[in-house]
Amino acid sequence: MKELSRLLTSVPGSVTMAVADKAKALQAAGQDVIALAGGDPDFDTPDHIIQAAFAAIEDGATHYPPTKGTPASLQAIASKMERENGIKLDPKTQLIITPGAKWSIYLALAAIINPGDEVIYLEPVWVSYPPMITLAGGTPVAVSLSADDNFSVTADKLRAKVTPNTKAIMVNSPCNPTGRVLTQAEIDAVTEVAVENDLFVIADEIYEHLIFDGRTHISLAAQPGMAERTITVNGLSKAYAMTGWRLGWIAATPNIIKLAGKLNSQTVSSAANFTMAATVAALNGPQDCVGQMRDAYQQRRDFMVKALNEIDGVHCRSIEGAFYLFPSFPGSSKNSMELADALLEKAGIAGTPGIGFGAAGEGHIRFSIATAMSDLERAVERLAKVAHEL
Ligand SMILES: Cc1ncc(COP(=O)(O)O)c(C=O)c1O
Repeated sequence: MKELSRLLTSVPGSVTMAVADKAKALQAAGQDVIALAGGDPDFDTPDHIIQAAFAAIEDGATHYPPTKGTPASLQAIASKMERENGIKLDPKTQLIITPGAKWSIYLALAAIINPGDEVIYLEPVWVSYPPMITLAGGTPVAVSLSADDNFSVTADKLRAKVTPNTKAIMVNSPCNPTGRVLTQAEIDAVTEVAVENDLFVIADEIYEHLIFDGRTHISLAAQPGMAERTITVNGLSKAYAMTGWRLGWIAATPNIIKLAGKLNSQTVSSAANFTMAATVAALNGPQDCVGQMRDAYQQRRDFMVKALNEIDGVHCRSIEGAFYLFPSFPGSSKNSMELADALLEKAGIAGTPGIGFGAAGEGHIRFSIATAMSDLERAVERLAKVAHEL
């Protein structure tokens, strides 16, 4: 047999999937496992969005759409970005709708990377960024952030990793897995380093609406000097509980969109036609559903952070956004893989080991709170019983 792809062989599999597989095997064997490892909202997609998709299918939106998206859905995204993010774009030349925001991130990387280019990301990092940088032909470079100062970002921390080969910085705020929401000072730090080194910035804003305690989300592309160098990624998965619809988008300058559009049309062609009609309903329709889900996540956060901190041997920072808690286990001698295994085996709780989010995530476990309150209550009860064994 000829050798298979060296590039794909070099990329690690997803730790999140590995935990999910173990949890499923235990469930299949009859064990009651509380699944806190995934990132899928437990809410149903709001009904007016579902109805819009039904109507579109009945109206014949079952054929190939334009590869970048239907005019109405592109316009709805452009209007949303101007209204909510302060980003003005031409929907015809500066947007592509993609099957999920994950594909948008890959398109962004593929459109800017040449062999040897380095891409900086903040660690702990969402599991898929480093492999995607590698797959796009670049070299991932971590800026390691620490829980001791709430994973804060400064211009100096970024500058320390910039080399003549640096091409871009990837930023995810609100952040999966840390729950950090970048402050204006941190956004300024990213802006300063990007402008002074002529870098692109990939701003992943998928959790922008899941933000707590009255904070505001700040879009990098709306900062001075950033419109021409920022590639904004967003989508409907998290805010509208639409993970299974696979709907995301990428917004950037026309030259970047032209290249990303080539890759999109030569690979996936487009997102599904009727999901574009659903996008119009989601973005132009009533937004109270988004606020209600956010309030529920905030309530769950309040309950979980308090309950986890009451357990001896568990420390949990509060989170500012997204829907993941990232507790540590200060008294434990186990690494995060061993901790995740012990939690699964002793308490039937599936959490994601922090090492999956890079070395800076070691010692932590990520728990999703996009999970029914009753399951969260059961999880803390079980954790309290086994904490002394961890
Ligand atoms: C940080 C981050 N970016 C992007 C995505 C991708 O979202 P989508 O479901 O739209 O592909 C996720 C999903 O978990 C995520 O956590």
